[in-house]
Amino acid sequence: MNEVTGFGRGKLILCGEHAVVHGQPAIAFASDLGTTVHVSPCDGPTHVIGVDGDPRIDEAARMALGEQGHEVRLSSTLPLGRGMGSSAAFAVALVRAGATLRGETLSEQEQYERALPIETLFHSRPSGLDVAISVRGGIVRFTKGNPPVLEPLPCPSWQVVVLDTGKKGDTGKLVDHVTSQRPGIDPILARIGALTDEVAAQLDDVEALGALLDENQRLLAQVGVSSPEIEELCELALAHGAHGAKLTGAGGGGVVMALVTDPAPVLAAAKAAGVPAWTAKPQEQS
Ligand code: MEV
Repeated sequence: MNEVTGFGRGKLILCGEHAVVHGQPAIAFASDLGTTVHVSPCDGPTHVIGVDGDPRIDEAARMALGEQGHEVRLSSTLPLGRGMGSSAAFAVALVRAGATLRGETLSEQEQYERALPIETLFHSRPSGLDVAISVRGGIVRFTKGNPPVLEPLPCPSWQVVVLDTGKKGDTGKLVDHVTSQRPGIDPILARIGALTDEVAAQLDDVEALGALLDENQRLLAQVGVSSPEIEELCELALAHGAHGAKLTGAGGGGVVMALVTDPAPVLAAAKAAGVPAWTAKPQEQS
């Protein structure tokens, strides 16, 4: 059989990461960056080529495609381990390729249900947000559950600048770190949940939205998932006209998201500082 491919999108969390693991709502939008898996037949066990050292990668491929007979090659436009949902995008891409191989047409719910256990290999307590937005696209308010609650939001017209700290964050460890501080931090998690509702209500007002994102960043720092690099990049963006800036994803490194009307000054400042940066914006569901 010829090569089969599957694609999964990455994501950016606008508000509510970490709190979402503990039942609070979050808002995320799909990135146009993502991961493609290319699956070809082979003799022997299913395996992934070109990525060494992490046995979970082969295990993910076997869960989606079967134990035997498939060789997987990855191509990804997503920065890995930077909070942009690369493990969820990989899981969704595998599930879609597996469905194509078997001649199945999967609903979004079925794709979600198959991809979530695969993402669980990479960090043990995913809320499901990353998989849900990778499957669905667009911009959604998400609350964890079985099934989760997904409320599509009207697509706003602003954009963000994404700035890369160049450091990987370990999502599993960061989620465990936040969890270990409960119940003491529960009021902070509840405030993040309330902020998410305010964000949904102010989605088209960049000034108000920026202030809410700044507050979300301060709360994330209080639960210990920010870092000096993240704080520096937020400050750089705010000093060059951003309305608000925060880490996005698990933190501990990864990328920062800065809400802008004009991306040029933030992009120029990032370039001058040697920081990789690019723009992203919410898209209608595709
Ligand atoms: C990771 O992209 C977002 C977290 O909230 C974890 C999760 O929702 O599974 C930190």
